[in-house]
Amino acid sequence: MFEILEPKPADAILKLIAEHQNDARAEKVDLGVGVYRDAAGNTPILRSVKKAEHWLVGSQESKAYLGSRGDIVFCDAVERLLFADAAEGSSRISTVQTPGGSGALRVAAEVILRANPNATMWVSDPTWNNHVPLLGEAGVNLRTYPYYDSDTNSLRFDAMLESLQASSEGDLILLHGCCHNPTGMDLSVEQWQQVADLVVERKLIPFIDIAYQGFAEGVDEDAYGVRLMYGRVPEMIVTQSCSKNFGLYRDRVGALSFVAADEATAKTVDSQALFVVRTMYSLPPDHGGAVVSRILNDADLRAEWLDEVSEMRGRLKDMRTLLANELRKSAPDHDFSHIERTTGMFCYLGVSPEQVERLKKDFGVYLVGSSRINVCGITAENVSYLAKSIASVL
Ligand SMILES: Cc1ncc(COP(=O)(O)O)c(C=O)c1O
Repeated sequence: MFEILEPKPADAILKLIAEHQNDARAEKVDLGVGVYRDAAGNTPILRSVKKAEHWLVGSQESKAYLGSRGDIVFCDAVERLLFADAAEGSSRISTVQTPGGSGALRVAAEVILRANPNATMWVSDPTWNNHVPLLGEAGVNLRTYPYYDSDTNSLRFDAMLESLQASSEGDLILLHGCCHNPTGMDLSVEQWQQVADLVVERKLIPFIDIAYQGFAEGVDEDAYGVRLMYGRVPEMIVTQSCSKNFGLYRDRVGALSFVAADEATAKTVDSQALFVVRTMYSLPPDHGGAVVSRILNDADLRAEWLDEVSEMRGRLKDMRTLLANELRKSAPDHDFSHIERTTGMFCYLGVSPEQVERLKKDFGVYLVGSSRINVCGITAENVSYLAKSIASVL
């Protein structure tokens, strides 16, 4: 049976990681990875996470199955992190714990197809490189709306609104809650409001994927879009990842929330989500969710975690400023100011695929072909070399 299968190409980022590892040059720079790194190049386990894990090892009494929802205490905690006070006692929101944000996206796709097999979802062009395979392979019809102008390194907001005039009632619109991946270009508060107006007017269903809450402006500030939409629409979907803001990547922690028009519908959607989970992977892994739940429900650990998120956010902002300033010196004729205007871990550097190749070959600077960079790869030590390398290929 297997002989009819065609081999699939390896993931481009994995290939890039291997190339970087095999590069013997001491001055090499890795801007390709998809994880947070500190100034020493490590992806540390957060202090709050370590403490919660110690507590868990001492206090956990059973590894018996939880249900398909996962840990209800976790679900309540992350629901509140997203929706704040609106989550308190709301009978319209239901949440299930999932294996990462990816698991949430896939379960969401299955539930959407059960409700509407012909559903069309509008995704930004560009979007996270796994959105299209993940949602498309599940069977959701995807269409794109313009989002980013690579020539001017700015948002194509008018074109986005215009293209969504072709949407139909009941279509879904996928929006990044904050720290748009790959461009780092987020909607402003006013733009969120305009998108909300359009969503209401055209009776669309917002689908917000939020994987970097706390990395742009703050944990509450970054949930602005989610909270705005919640107040304005009868139905919405939110997928959440705890991989980055809790540093729990391999523990696979995420959540999927549905908002329905009323309590009875919310219960039905929830029962469908639980059914989908049961038929896919039965129940989510527990450890990471238990850690998040402990952190969010313990005042001291929560405060420590908020400090750590703020530290990570601060480093991301500082490295953006550092690189933009260094490029002003090394490449004064080029405008790289968008590096400072974008948020989170990623942005496009704004160079061609040929220039990306030259950066790799001639200077040992590794980034993906689209010129997406992870700003965590920048340090005070390598920034001058990096800026000079970039200037040399312009
Ligand atoms: C926009 C976006 N959504 C979802 C995810 C999935 O994250 P997870 O590792 O939790 O599955 C990512 C991860 O990079 C992402 O960037």
